[in-house]
Amino acid sequence: MTGRRADREVAVKAKKVRTDLAWFGGEPAFADDIRVGTPNVPAKERYLELVGEAIDRRWLSNLGPLVQEFEGLTAERTLRRHNTATGNATAALQVAAKACGVTGEVIMPSFTFAATALAMSWIGLTPVFCDIDPETGTLDPLSVAKAVTPRTGGILGVHLWGNLCDLTGLDGVARDAGVPLLYDSAQAFGCRPLAPAPQGAAEVFSFHATKILNTFEGGLVATDDDEIHARVRSMHNFGFDDAMEVAGPGTNAKMSESSAAMGIASVECLDDTLSTYRSLHLRYRDGLDEVPGVTLIEAPAGQTHNHQYVVVRVDPGAAGLDRDRLFDILGAENIRTKKYFAPGCHRMPPYRDDAVHTPLDLPATEELAGRVLALPIGLSVAPDDVDLICDVIAAAVRHA
Ligand SMILES: Cc1ncc(COP(=O)(O)O)c(C=O)c1O
Repeated sequence: MTGRRADREVAVKAKKVRTDLAWFGGEPAFADDIRVGTPNVPAKERYLELVGEAIDRRWLSNLGPLVQEFEGLTAERTLRRHNTATGNATAALQVAAKACGVTGEVIMPSFTFAATALAMSWIGLTPVFCDIDPETGTLDPLSVAKAVTPRTGGILGVHLWGNLCDLTGLDGVARDAGVPLLYDSAQAFGCRPLAPAPQGAAEVFSFHATKILNTFEGGLVATDDDEIHARVRSMHNFGFDDAMEVAGPGTNAKMSESSAAMGIASVECLDDTLSTYRSLHLRYRDGLDEVPGVTLIEAPAGQTHNHQYVVVRVDPGAAGLDRDRLFDILGAENIRTKKYFAPGCHRMPPYRDDAVHTPLDLPATEELAGRVLALPIGLSVAPDDVDLICDVIAAAVRHA
């Protein structure tokens, strides 16, 4: 243990965080970086064993046995009939949109990671941004209903931070509009409704390195629809049919055997990973409970949750400082947080200058984008790291 780390542990145990935070002129109290998005590697030996087998087989891609096994294992978590592993979620979103017949304008939230919108633009679709529920951060069905026009060719909800959208509400709007409804579940592996609910024509998960379950890079298209599934299978593999002849449009969105090895090794111990995340989340809840103006965004009722993100909302009136200042103070203490997700996509260069993308005002999006901060969580974050982060936040608010 380094001297700095030992000091830090003493400080945490004594609940005595320096009052002269670096931001106010002192030295950073902590040498180690604690950051959002450090990859989980829960089963290195198992991964090496599986990837070694793939190398010995000389079967490295092209829907090999590891990809097939991984697809089977993910079905236990997605609870969908068909699961197709892909090279990443961005490509998976494109394949899913094509396979579901999305055309023209796609209604989606602005408050999401840019990939949701960029994936659609890249295949010639036009993102139309709608507002969100201010509590959960997910697409608001009323806002979507207002934005539907004859040009609408699909709706793409995002289960942001693992919070499931209003599944019934969006299903109703999509049915009334007569367009396919898809979900970007990139952040929602392990998040399922507790009661049966409509879950859209298809959904897409991400296994990017920073996700709770990672395959270095990876994704998944899940659907209950046999025809959509058949199109996804073909489209993600050059449009091939069973005879390996090109039978229709396609791209290369396949997952590699190496990625699937990481996925299998990680999914085998996912229950332990989920329980670590849950306990870190509870620790944040306790640690921030009495900090005025810094509120943990809680998981909605009625669903399982992966707690992949710990997001706080900073209310400057009560906290005495705003989100950006808290971000800087934590950064000065080597605690690397993320402004997930700011700015909204409608304010990004590809979209901000063309009114077609933003027909409505987005007050809830603007408000949340200015207030939220994602704090570090993951298998590399220790319980005492959480105590320390909470103590630094409390000290920052006290001294604001
Ligand atoms: C909401 C959302 N959509 C899409 C993506 C893209 O995923 P990938 O990096 O696997 O392409 C991400 C990844 O972070 C995401 O958070």
